[in-house]
This record gives sequence, C-alpha cells and structure tokens, in this order.
Amino acid sequence: MERELPIEWNEAFSIGRPEIDEEHRQIILIVRELEILRREQRDVERFVEVLSRMTRYGMAHLDREEDYMARMGYPDLQPHIEGHKKYLYTVAMFNYRFTGPTPPSLDEVSGFLSKWWTSHIMKDDRDYERFRQESGLQLDY
Ligand SMILES: [Fe+2]
Repeated sequence: MERELPIEWNEAFSIGRPEIDEEHRQIILIVRELEILRREQRDVERFVEVLSRMTRYGMAHLDREEDYMARMGYPDLQPHIEGHKKYLYTVAMFNYRFTGPTPPSLDEVSGFLSKWWTSHIMKDDRDYERFRQESGLQLDY
C-alpha cells in the first residue's frame, strides 16, 4: 500500500549510531524529494538531477558502511555487500535508461528507492549495529 504522505525521517529509522543516522537522514531527504517530484511535478529533468545526487550520496554511504562492517569483523559482510552491489547495478541501469529511448517511469524508480532504503536502514543496518553493540566493540565510523 502506498503511503499518502512522502517519506519522512523519524526515530523508527534510528539504528543507534548518530553519525550513521545522520547519513540515513540525508538519504531519506533525497528519497523524499524524489517522491514529491514523482507525485506532484512530473519534472523528469529535475528528477534525473536528484537521482544523480541519490546515486552519488548512496554510493559513498554504502562504501563507508562496507568499510565499517569489515573493521568490526561482521559475519554477514558478504551478503550485505552483495545487496549493495545489486542496488548499485539497479540504480546505474535507471540512470542509463534515462539517457535512451526507454526511460523508466518515475513511479518505478521512486518506488524502488523508497522500498530499498527503508528496508536497508530498518533491517540490514540495524543488524550490523546490533552485532557491534553486542560484541562490545568500540569503533569509529
Ligand atoms: Fe546504511
């Protein structure tokens, strides 16, 4: 079921590590901007611009996270990295398709990003942070 209001950061997104929460908050802001553009304006050019910001910010975030998980010796590192790779491929294809004759629909792109980031933050990221806390590891992010 589709939410009536665009996505918004709230405490339910917190994984208990302020620096990571802050990056996730930025990501949710970009996802929100895409949802609003898709719903209200249908301005494809602007949408693609914001998608490009999403792509860059998301990639940098996932890189930092992989490094963080590797340093904590996270046992589920490989599946988590695989998930990142699939995500990056999907987003690269979206960007690519916007340059050709069969661009994706804004619904498809925005729907994918909203779902992916919600589940990434609320499930995958919470898992590694819980692992770190339970292991009692002190680690910079
Ligand atoms: Fe994350």
